[in-house]
Amino acid sequence: MAFPIDRGRRLRSNPAIRRMVRENQVSVDDLIYPLFVAEGEGIKKEISSMPGIYQMSIEHIVTECEKLKALGVPSVILFGIPEHKDAMGSQAYDKHGVIQNTIRAIKHEVPEMYVITDVCMCEYTDHGHCGIIKNNDVDNDETLKYLALEALSHVEAGADMVAPSDMMDGRIITIRDILDGNGYHNIPIMSYAVKYSSAFYGPFREAAESTPAFGDRKTYQMDPANRREALREAMTDVEEGADILMVKPGLPYLDIIRELADNFDKPIAAYNVSGEYAMVHAAAQRGWLDYEKVMFESLLSMKRAGAKLILTYFAKDAARLL
Ligand code: PBG
Ligand code: ZN
Repeated sequence: MAFPIDRGRRLRSNPAIRRMVRENQVSVDDLIYPLFVAEGEGIKKEISSMPGIYQMSIEHIVTECEKLKALGVPSVILFGIPEHKDAMGSQAYDKHGVIQNTIRAIKHEVPEMYVITDVCMCEYTDHGHCGIIKNNDVDNDETLKYLALEALSHVEAGADMVAPSDMMDGRIITIRDILDGNGYHNIPIMSYAVKYSSAFYGPFREAAESTPAFGDRKTYQMDPANRREALREAMTDVEEGADILMVKPGLPYLDIIRELADNFDKPIAAYNVSGEYAMVHAAAQRGWLDYEKVMFESLLSMKRAGAKLILTYFAKDAARLL
């Protein structure tokens, strides 16, 4: 037998054949763009560790949605930065809170935009934790009540989907119950099912002004060392009625994305988080990496790992180039 019979290079020899046998691709359909809404007017403030990403007041957010629509990006996920924060995060579930007002404005001006909301307390609490504090820790069951109210208020304002990111136990069933009880049977829940306690969220906390005032999030977010626990978290969320399962962060957890894709018959989403975005920009600014190529390779790797959807700060740049 002549060696080698199988030559991998035969199917790599020119762009046409490479295109024909390509197994995965990034589509603009997969992209969800995170937006940070600041309460007030005339605000457009760049986040220093996230070039090209801004805290914006509602009128700028609406303009941004028009641009995204023109680029073909189907969806945004909203994070709110309220003027007033308190221990109970009261602006999180206020009918006229910054997010509720933003949802109404987007739905009025750009109705085709699919609006997802992040459901969590950390942007709204004065202590910066993702729930209600008792005995120096986040109280799980007390927090559930407020998350349910927050999710309902988003949906009542017109949100198309809610995405709880708090990591309390039982939050999916609690939110499903309140939505169904109010006639919103068809509003899907995208669970941040597998959310690790990660240092890659650093720039986001600057963007959302949500750094915890004491302690850390390790009593509710997952230990980065754990894989099997990810399967348990995903399983509970599926049993509780989650429609989409998210893994967060993305790149450092591609193995977990693959685990979920192999084990659950639900669409998987990956959150390509703020730190991943910041690293690429920092290296590209120094001329150490090619920004566009590394961006696409990052997004593609999450698709290859099994994600259908990608929440990414790269969405606009990627859509422009696709
Ligand atoms: C809030 C939330 C965080 C992110 C999304 N929702 C931060 C955190 O848990 O500290 C991170 C997103 C990013 O880093 O881009 N619960
Ligand atoms: Zn939070």
